[in-house]
Amino acid sequence: MSKLKRALITGISGQDGSYLSELLLGKGYEVHGIVRRVAMEDPQHRLSRIHHLKDRLQLHAASLESYPSLMKVVAAVCPDEVYHLAAQSYVSYSFEDEFSTFEVNVNGTHYLLSACRDVVPSARFYFAGSSEMFGSAPAPQNESTAFRPRSAYGISKVAGYHLTRNYREAYGLHASCGMLYNHESPRRGMEFVTRKISSLAAQIKLGLASEIRLGNPEARRDWGHAREYVEGMWRMLQQEQPDDYVIATGETHSVREFLECTFDFLGLDPYKYLVLDNRFVRPAEVDVLLGDMSKAREHLGWTPKISFRELAREMVFSDLDLYSRVAVNEGKSAAAFSLAPMITHIPPAAENEGTPAAD
Ligand code: GDD
Repeated sequence: MSKLKRALITGISGQDGSYLSELLLGKGYEVHGIVRRVAMEDPQHRLSRIHHLKDRLQLHAASLESYPSLMKVVAAVCPDEVYHLAAQSYVSYSFEDEFSTFEVNVNGTHYLLSACRDVVPSARFYFAGSSEMFGSAPAPQNESTAFRPRSAYGISKVAGYHLTRNYREAYGLHASCGMLYNHESPRRGMEFVTRKISSLAAQIKLGLASEIRLGNPEARRDWGHAREYVEGMWRMLQQEQPDDYVIATGETHSVREFLECTFDFLGLDPYKYLVLDNRFVRPAEVDVLLGDMSKAREHLGWTPKISFRELAREMVFSDLDLYSRVAVNEGKSAAAFSLAPMITHIPPAAENEGTPAAD
């Protein structure tokens, strides 16, 4: 009987880590994850996205800022596949603290690659690159497009990409980089614009909020569903040769369109509540991201199926469900908000597992 494949995931408690864990467990992998020590101490809050999987995952405390701690976990787990998803992933924050963004995103990636080279050189390695690496490059972008990052976050991901490529070329590591465009879900953190919109739409509908403050509503992104994107990561590591791939839908939509679409699902006019707020405008914006994922389609057989509208719909009805429970707990009845017809549109439980995290 062939032995179980063993995967090690950094960032396992995040949106992508939770979907990837489900995918790998479903394929029979033994799944290990690296989390920060503070998360182990506060699992209720910090591990909420993987709470439903807790008995099937093996978690290890380590920090991306400590090479010895990473080395120890890699040596203990001896993984066949390593998925490096952990990062300071909020672009806006990278303008406030460029230094810690580089520390975590660049050094953390370097430490992990180095530990893999020294301990498990035959392990397959996935680096979570980003469409932010393309920055202001003209759309559509593909694997040959020159990088023009517009933030410390984007620059840190370009550095991680080059580290990954260099470990592949210099040391023969099976190391691949996924250049994933924005990918969302009900498990998305509240700081990202789609979740901010879906959660506030739900709260406004329920009378729990009265406005939505946004920065630049004209920015355009290529938004897909995270559950489908983690399948692209896995497929990259099943290829005989390591390589780099764009994962995207090939459609671009503005923040304004996401806002209109989401509010429309709840029968709300967003312009009654929208306040433009300069505090959410970035010092340097990426105006348009649009990915050309032909290579992933041809080599990996990967194509996205969930549309922009389906994504918005799943997110807003999931938040409506979440905040209805909040409202009920505050002594308000869900019926008071005429929710019954809408709740029937909530996607089935299997697609909607997990509690959205508060951060
Ligand atoms: N977060 C946020 N909040 N963004 C806003 C707001 C607001 O109030 N108003 C407008 N935006 C605009 C941002 O300026 C940006 O153009 C767009 O909405 C999307 O912002 P985010 O949702 O924060 O995502 P992001 O595109 O910066 O980065 C995400 O996608 C990358 C892949 O392209 C993150 O997930 C990154 O980690 C990821 O690499």
